[in-house]
Amino acid sequence: MSHDDCVSNKSNNRPFKDVLETHTSRRKVLAGGLAMAATSFFAGSSIVFADRKDDERGQGLWKKTDEGPLIDFTPVPVAEGTGPWPSISPEYQFDVLIPWGEPLEPGGPTYNYPPNAADQALQIGIGHDGMWFFPMKHGKFGRGGNKRGMLAINHEFGRNSHVLGKPAPESLEDVRVSQHAHGVSVVEIKEDDGKWKTVKSKNARRIHVNTPMAFSGPVASHDLLRTPNGNIPLGTVNNCANGYTPWGTYLTCEENFNGYFGATNLNNTWVPTAAQERYGFNEGGFGYGWEHFDRRFDLSDADYINEENRFGWIVEIDPMDATQTPVKRTALGRFKHEGIALTVGRGGRVVGYMGDDQRFDYIYKFVSDDNWQSMRARGQSPLDHGKLYVAKFNDDGSGEWLELTIDNPALAATFADQAEVLTYARMAADILGATPMDRPEWTTVAPNGDVYCTLTNNSRRTVADAANPMAPNADGHIIKWRDADQHTGTTFEWDIFLVAKDTHGTEESYSDPDGLWADPDGRLFIQTDGGQKDGLNNQMLVADTNTGEIRRLFTGVSGDEITGIAVTPDRRTMFINTQHPGNGDPARTNFPASFDGVTIPRDATFVITKKDGGIIGS
Ligand code: FEO
Ligand code: CA
Ligand code: CA
Repeated sequence: MSHDDCVSNKSNNRPFKDVLETHTSRRKVLAGGLAMAATSFFAGSSIVFADRKDDERGQGLWKKTDEGPLIDFTPVPVAEGTGPWPSISPEYQFDVLIPWGEPLEPGGPTYNYPPNAADQALQIGIGHDGMWFFPMKHGKFGRGGNKRGMLAINHEFGRNSHVLGKPAPESLEDVRVSQHAHGVSVVEIKEDDGKWKTVKSKNARRIHVNTPMAFSGPVASHDLLRTPNGNIPLGTVNNCANGYTPWGTYLTCEENFNGYFGATNLNNTWVPTAAQERYGFNEGGFGYGWEHFDRRFDLSDADYINEENRFGWIVEIDPMDATQTPVKRTALGRFKHEGIALTVGRGGRVVGYMGDDQRFDYIYKFVSDDNWQSMRARGQSPLDHGKLYVAKFNDDGSGEWLELTIDNPALAATFADQAEVLTYARMAADILGATPMDRPEWTTVAPNGDVYCTLTNNSRRTVADAANPMAPNADGHIIKWRDADQHTGTTFEWDIFLVAKDTHGTEESYSDPDGLWADPDGRLFIQTDGGQKDGLNNQMLVADTNTGEIRRLFTGVSGDEITGIAVTPDRRTMFINTQHPGNGDPARTNFPASFDGVTIPRDATFVITKKDGGIIGS
């Protein structure tokens, strides 16, 4: 979903101007960091997860099992991908799973429209987005992870008109419905006779805007995360794309968190700080209206100063333990996190690539301090101790990772400590002269070490540069790079992989690339979110990264976005999502009404299989 109407990075390729602006506004920034009495609600870095064996991780490190051409299916023609219902390649088939409002487990509250808050907290949320499948061993020989596992899925957003059936909440109960529709679902799913369904599970849970959270890493105990009234950290919101760790946990990424805050501003004195402006906070937010009934989201409420600093993080969730408190990993920085692609680099260090989806914002990288297994053996999270970098793309095809550290005098001149650098990562990146990009969305790491990132579009770009070669950039592009030193180096070489506009008028046509996943064979799955050409619905394509060939595997329904991608370990089942089908309007589509007779369109997951049982994408 696009919530990018404003350009909050005013640096506009002029980092030195921004240094000056940021420096002069420092007092304003720090005014938000009032020293508060210490509370004991911050969990610190002591949270550990039980280690899991390789085949339980579901982290995509599978061996190639097929030979022959990478892509060998009949594409969906442009002319067929235009209707109110999905289309798929004739060699494939799809089924529908967990639409919005379905019970988390069999026997839970069934779908009613509009939902009530209590039911919604036990039902699948709306705005299906990033997700991952965590296989479970079961059966006589402990195998079966291709047929049963935990699916962790993000619920990015749902408009009031869709969720509540009215434009604005009229009570705290309405706000709670909206809040419970956001967040993450963790469900146990199982395949029986070719049909996947949810099953009863001790691990199933809903995580939403009122779920207790822990903070970990350098900002965890900082005053920037304390409010004057000492309320405990609650909730995650606008959960966009995702990541998954080598130790078997799920990462959910908070993107447009700013839009859920507003300012009732009764005494007419609230003005945004420089930091709030840089993160896009304003009086009306995106119109959710939560601030009118839930003071926590009122930026002008003196009791809740700093509440907004508790959002914009990456949150770690254990999909195999419903009692775990989700942990916000502050070392990964605070910005509009689209997603995180983790890989293991030199020396066993874990490396994560992250996009900040706003016009003219940046691409980031995190590198853990040490081998991830050694760190976990010492009781440390690899995501708590490491370096955060931001990307600078030079016009000659080289690039640099600029470290966001308080040890840099340029940052020490503006920020008091590393916690401030991480909380205001965007502003620190402005100062270092990072390259403003055309809305960085998903990242993925291919088996050969290439890293890909979708740059979905930027209608406001007036000056092209080598890394963002279209001005304006109406349709987006995909960039790729390879880091020095097995992902851990501070330099890289980059290239443009594809410019979407170049595909228009062909059967490979796509616009607004967003979701992205590289499989272990070198296929790149590309999902779109935006106006496609020739009346096409949003879609999922498969690219051969060796040849550049693209074929269309799937098209969604009118008004939706195709997003989220997960696979079983054998890659013979894939899960993807439709988000905001019909934009919530039953006149455009009632998908998936035929599923159970409900007529308002509902976000849902598709289960994709190949009719001959082959690997998805082949
Ligand atoms: Fe949530 Fe940038 O898409
Ligand atoms: Ca998007
Ligand atoms: Ca997206």
